[in-house]
Amino acid sequence: MTIFRSARLKLTAWYLLIIMAVSLLFSGIVYRIMTQELRRGFGLQILRQMPHDIREEYLEKVREQAIPLPFRGLAVPVAIDEELFSEIRRRIAVNLGLVNLGILGLSGIASYFLAGRTLRPIEDMVDAQKRFIADASHEMRTPLTSIKSEIEVALRQKALTSRQARSVLRSNLEEVGKMQGFTDYLLTLSKYETGEISLPVEPVNLRTSVEEAVRRQRQHIRNRDITVNTQTPDVYVKANPESLTELVTILLDNAVKYSPEGSAVNIRISRGRSAARLEVKDRGQGIKASDVPYIFNRFYRADTSRSKHSADGYGLGLSIAKSIAGMYRGDIAVRSTPGKGSTFTVSLPV
Ligand SMILES: Nc1ncnc2c1ncn2[C@@H]1O[C@H](COP(=O)(O)OP(=O)(O)OP(=O)(O)O)[C@@H](O)[C@H]1O
Ligand SMILES: [Mg+2]
Repeated sequence: MTIFRSARLKLTAWYLLIIMAVSLLFSGIVYRIMTQELRRGFGLQILRQMPHDIREEYLEKVREQAIPLPFRGLAVPVAIDEELFSEIRRRIAVNLGLVNLGILGLSGIASYFLAGRTLRPIEDMVDAQKRFIADASHEMRTPLTSIKSEIEVALRQKALTSRQARSVLRSNLEEVGKMQGFTDYLLTLSKYETGEISLPVEPVNLRTSVEEAVRRQRQHIRNRDITVNTQTPDVYVKANPESLTELVTILLDNAVKYSPEGSAVNIRISRGRSAARLEVKDRGQGIKASDVPYIFNRFYRADTSRSKHSADGYGLGLSIAKSIAGMYRGDIAVRSTPGKGSTFTVSLPV
């Protein structure tokens, strides 16, 4: 993506600028120290080679000025070979320049690599958002197309009876209901995923969440003639009550939806040392091992061709459930055997 390429190049340039500024600053300091020390070394060497009496005379001058030799270089200038000295200085400058060129090259490569790594999570997030928008629009398109074509067909009829019109309206209403359900789902998802709304948290009895979820799913449970067995002692977790009810509702909805009519679903709550556990177990169609890693992804539906016919859905439920569990630093896991059933387990810290 071009926007990320240019952002990467810009970031590389910034990294490089900072590294080179530091490197040049240190090179300047090194250059200064080295030339000073060299001048001192040259001077001392000349001093050592002086005849004894001239040296004594020089040291006498130094003592008069009371400047300690080791700290002040040569207190009194000694004539050194300036030509040789400037040649050495030039060589030091050239060498430091070469070192800086090396640093420029190496840090250029390293910066480019680092900039890539810094931007990668953002790039992934943008990709995920794009996919999300594409999937969501696709889901909206299906009912919209059906509404549009039904209206078009109805309008083409010369004498539309009120019965026909009512039938079209009823069908349209159904599709509008689907779209409404879908947008509600999306809003729930964004509420829990972005964590922008800080929900009020209080001690919640998991038992109450289960009872409320069963109540909400009553019609669905009855339609599919499912028996729901609950084993729910009082276990409290710190959470937002509505979000926990939503979490249990999603798992119960799936258990009922993906089970054969007349089968049983068991819900069990237990309390471990550091976490509360909620288990929703069904004896339904189960999930293939190859699908398991993906079912918590947004819009993922296992074995779509089959389940699209047998059960409606958008593939959003479990991703919402996972976001809710994650909000409380909890976890959600699944064990499943195709043809035998699935058990979803949520653990929440107490
Ligand atoms: N209890 C279950 N038994 C078998 N398969 C399941 C079960 N729960 C989830 N799945 C599989 O995981 C997929 C994802 O589930 P999820 O709840 O996210 O979406 P959905 O049920 O398809 O749609 P919706 O958005 O309406 O919940 C389902 O399509 C289904 O294939
Ligand atoms: Mg679902």
